[in-house]
Amino acid sequence: LSGVPGFPLPSIHTQQAYDPASDFTSRWTRADALQIKAHSSTSVAVGQNSMPAQLTMPNIPADFPQTSPDVWIWDTWTLIDKHADQFSYNGWEVIFSLTADPNAGYTFDDRHVHARIGFFYRRAGIPASQRPVNGGWIYGGHLFPDGTSAQVFAGTTYTEQAEWSGSARLMNVHGNTVSVFYTDLAFNRNANAGNITPPVAVITQTLGQIHADFRHVWFTGFGTHTPLLRPDGTYYQTGQQNEFYSFRDPFTFEDPQHPGVNYMVFEGNTAGDRGTPNCTEADLGYRPNDPHAETLQEVLDSGAYYQKANIGLAIAENGSLSKWKFLPPLISSNCVNDQTERPQMYIKDGKYYVFTISHRTTYAAGVDGPDGVYGFVGNGIRSDFQPMNYGSGLVLGNPTDLNTAAGTDFDPNPDQNPRAFQSYSHYIMPGGLVESFIDTVEGRRGGALSPTVRLQIAKSASVVDLRYGNGGLGGYGDIPANRADINIAGF
Ligand code: FRU
Repeated sequence: LSGVPGFPLPSIHTQQAYDPASDFTSRWTRADALQIKAHSSTSVAVGQNSMPAQLTMPNIPADFPQTSPDVWIWDTWTLIDKHADQFSYNGWEVIFSLTADPNAGYTFDDRHVHARIGFFYRRAGIPASQRPVNGGWIYGGHLFPDGTSAQVFAGTTYTEQAEWSGSARLMNVHGNTVSVFYTDLAFNRNANAGNITPPVAVITQTLGQIHADFRHVWFTGFGTHTPLLRPDGTYYQTGQQNEFYSFRDPFTFEDPQHPGVNYMVFEGNTAGDRGTPNCTEADLGYRPNDPHAETLQEVLDSGAYYQKANIGLAIAENGSLSKWKFLPPLISSNCVNDQTERPQMYIKDGKYYVFTISHRTTYAAGVDGPDGVYGFVGNGIRSDFQPMNYGSGLVLGNPTDLNTAAGTDFDPNPDQNPRAFQSYSHYIMPGGLVESFIDTVEGRRGGALSPTVRLQIAKSASVVDLRYGNGGLGGYGDIPANRADINIAGF
């Protein structure tokens, strides 16, 4: 076995499947994540891309078009069924996005506390080359009636309330009931945006109906919002344990190995009080006698234990998906990274891929990687997941110089690659197509849909398909349905 000279070997992960209800949590270890640095070039000019080209999203041009003049848009998802197939409805493609008003007096970076779920539609079945350059999405407005998502916080004290990411599930093909799973948020903040009390995040369900005629798409319902899950403090960290906790981004699916059973993956953090220095040798994941292994004491001394993300799992307790029970996390990344966001389960050729998005700035001390998509493969929904691509986990990063300090999207390091924050919040669609939103390209802020790219995924490896679209970049906001829902009653 040979690794990269000067670096430890990745941890051994068998991909073995476990009972989804069992308490086996696989680990994205420091030994795994260090493979990203191991495969980053140390000899590129400052501000270039140091990452392997086949794991890098091609450059988004700085003259990208806006998706909509009316709203900033970021996290975006599609209308899916229990197998994550993407449906058009009576001839219209539909997407759901977090949106905020660009003319309301706050900045793009302050959008999160104002987020509302909006929807867009366009005619199905038109190739990207025949669409308007921005993808041709028509803005349909907010998805939920005003005030309805605030129901969950009735009687509590908050200063802002927002709708964060989730997923939209078509409950029956040939029907029009849509179940939206999303993160309902209430903030209680002072004038400096500090927390008076921790934000309250509740994974919530609301049911509505989709409608379409020859001119447009609209929704009814979404008047009743049912809280499903709040973090338990045992598997999933609470706001009381850490005011910076993450608990959000529900994605539901049925496991073909367990027909009729519905599961949900979501973003969480390992439970326990913030700042408790309790990562373990298993979180480090070094092989016995690896000469490049860190000691546990070195890692704890670095403060890496402030970063403890996990990917959560819950199981539905009824067919209407309104009652859920926590199961132990699928993957933890203690002392590795603090955020594993918008997780999804992607099933292909009998393999189960957990894809998630993460940031360079949420890595723990001593480990590093670009903003983008990370992937883990196993033989079932709960597995000893193997991080993809050299055991590292990296699947699709923004062009980034890992030798140069990150900066941020709102305060860029002038020496960093001007596309290190070009895109985020990627979602992997059928056929390996990947949609995301544009954050910052050469200092120009986005709030628009990125060009779609395509991944070729085989076993534990993936590459960006540079023959797709124009040098690897497809149409802006090209988010096609791969299935059609024809609801006769809806015509
Ligand atoms: C990812 C994300 C999600 C969250 C949303 C809030 O871009 O952090 O986890 O739901 O943004 O804006």
